[in-house]
Amino acid sequence: MLFGNDHKILVTGGAGYVGSHAVHCLLEKGVHPEQIIVFDNLLYGHPEFLPAGVILHKGDLLCKEDVRLVFENHPIKDVLHFAAYAYVGESMALPGKYFENNIMGGINLLEAMVQAQCRRIIFSSSCAAYGTHGDIDISEETESKPINPYGQSKLIFETILAWYHRIHAVRSISLRYFNAAGAAYGIGERHIPETHLIPLLIQTAMGRNEVFTLLGDDYDTPDGTCIRDYIHVADLARAHLEALKFLYDHEVCDVINLGSGEGKSVRQLVGMIEDLAGRPIPTKVAPPRPGDPAVLIAGNGKAAKVLHWKPQKSLAEMLESAWHWHCQECGHRR
Ligand SMILES: NC(=O)c1ccc[n+]([C@@H]2O[C@H](COP(=O)([O-])OP(=O)(O)OC[C@H]3O[C@@H](n4cnc5c(N)ncnc54)[C@H](O)[C@@H]3O)[C@@H](O)[C@H]2O)c1
Repeated sequence: MLFGNDHKILVTGGAGYVGSHAVHCLLEKGVHPEQIIVFDNLLYGHPEFLPAGVILHKGDLLCKEDVRLVFENHPIKDVLHFAAYAYVGESMALPGKYFENNIMGGINLLEAMVQAQCRRIIFSSSCAAYGTHGDIDISEETESKPINPYGQSKLIFETILAWYHRIHAVRSISLRYFNAAGAAYGIGERHIPETHLIPLLIQTAMGRNEVFTLLGDDYDTPDGTCIRDYIHVADLARAHLEALKFLYDHEVCDVINLGSGEGKSVRQLVGMIEDLAGRPIPTKVAPPRPGDPAVLIAGNGKAAKVLHWKPQKSLAEMLESAWHWHCQECGHRR
């Protein structure tokens, strides 16, 4: 048994896109379904993404009683913390919503963990914590200077984790993911509303949206569109297990990037998905979205060194898996 069968793993936000893939990955690696407790308010989660036998505890991290109850009812010793609001654009309009959910919700979780003597947590942080750094590979040593409240909320929670490590001996790894993409285990990326680039491109290529709105084509990049680093959601899920295993033997509070180390522009992605779909994607250009850096590419050496983790899947595999999942979802035929 991977993590011993005498205790349970709490997965907050486990019904969401990345969290549900991590739950499937835990089962694949031999964790028993009844050892996994998914805690999700289902605002953006999909219970149908969860494998049979996994326990779904519907609750909200902002409600201390909900959080207290889940720890009271289950002997939880490990936490994978995915639950958060994650729309960069919305965070620029409603910063309080992001600071409240992503920080206060996290503090309620940490307080309940300390109370229950649960002292291992893997936190879904984000490359949004870094802000803008031009065309460089961003390492964990790169200065963090977020340019949107979403990224700031992630950075603040990382700082809070450092204090809980110092004061309460809570071990943590904050995984700063770059852009999650792709589909695995028969589930995929479904956000409502959908603001993520790859699902939007696929939906437009399928004719489900009339036009793809390209947010800014005048960035300081070779083709003027934003460059991002994409990482397969199954690779991300696997990294969580490696990180959790690492915490069993190491008394640390650390930050680790998860990315491929390669960047692709929005225009390049449009071209790749047009090739998959076999048709052009109608595109219109709109002003850039406030809070979007021009380039975000991961330096991923630390993940390889510390966690022995490297991405296994290419961008082509991410796009193909996403395309096939979306086709299945809506019965689309090319
Ligand atoms: N998707 C990405 O590319 C990406 C990149 C970097 C970081 N992240 C981080 O990874 C995590 C998961 O992202 P995702 O894309 O799967 O998002 P998602 O919206 O699909 O999943 C988040 C889940 O958390 C739940 N949730 C939110 N607030 C909650 C609360 N207060 N109480 C209980 N449940 C709550 C939602 O219902 C949802 O199921 C987030 O923390 C996000 O910031 C994602």
